[in-house]
Amino acid sequence: MSNASKKVAIVTGGSRGIGAAIAERLAGDGFAVVINYAGSAAEAEALAAKIAQAGGRAITAQADVSDPAAVTRMFDAAESAFGGVDVLVNNAGVMRLAAVAEADDAIFDSQIAINLKGSFNTLREAARRLRNGGRIVNLSSSQAGSLFPTYGIYAATKAAVEALTHVLAKELRGRNITVNAVAPGPTATKLFLDGKSGELIDRLAKLAPLERLGQPTDVAAAVSFLTGPDGGWINGQVLRANGGII
Ligand SMILES: NC(=O)c1ccc[n+]([C@@H]2O[C@H](COP(=O)([O-])OP(=O)(O)OC[C@H]3O[C@@H](n4cnc5c(N)ncnc54)[C@H](OP(=O)(O)O)[C@@H]3O)[C@@H](O)[C@H]2O)c1
Repeated sequence: MSNASKKVAIVTGGSRGIGAAIAERLAGDGFAVVINYAGSAAEAEALAAKIAQAGGRAITAQADVSDPAAVTRMFDAAESAFGGVDVLVNNAGVMRLAAVAEADDAIFDSQIAINLKGSFNTLREAARRLRNGGRIVNLSSSQAGSLFPTYGIYAATKAAVEALTHVLAKELRGRNITVNAVAPGPTATKLFLDGKSGELIDRLAKLAPLERLGQPTDVAAAVSFLTGPDGGWINGQVLRANGGII
């Protein structure tokens, strides 16, 4: 039995990519896992079945994180399935690249709604409902530091998520709840790979001194550290998991 055997983690955007790797890793660490998704029901169900087959506990919970009522229902579902919530991993996110001059309102509004408002919605619920001793991990991006052209709106949403991370860590004083962010660099998921040529992917992969793309499991390992026993003294920090790109 691991330390986490009675603990419960919600992973938003857990159906695919980095979130799926985090859900699987936390289940392996002993957490009962709530796999949130927006549209990818089949992927989320398949992951829950895989976790159960490996001896873990998982349920799926459909909720668009940009909808506060849906987020409340997701926490309700977690509490009724597992009795409470100890960990929130705020992973759901979208990236829509465009130079400021070319960006339309939809590109701006969708990233604000999902990356920023979605994070706020889940953080507000977690601040009210997480059991004492819990952990919160927000997914930022190394683009909040790299600030490449065309990443402006996306990077702005992640900078805002980092600000919320620092403030909430202070607001939760007295409850023994840590709030941190993990900021991946280029990681081999649909979000990163879609729309890029092989040549561009190779070039971006070589930017880090470790000269490869991150894998979802690399990022999940950082989240596992922050949600596990060895991460307990880390609070209000941003951990860039990026092979040294910045
Ligand atoms: N990949 C990278 O290079 C990279 C680098 C830095 C930071 N990040 C961050 O890491 C996180 C995960 O990214 P990823 O690369 O794994 O992306 P991904 O492969 O595109 O997966 C995104 C996940 O978010 C979910 N999602 C999207 N919109 C949602 C919504 N409104 N409500 C609930 N869930 C929603 C998706 O679920 P459905 O399929 O059900 O819609 C999916 O599970 C994001 O916050 C991203 O900004 C990624």
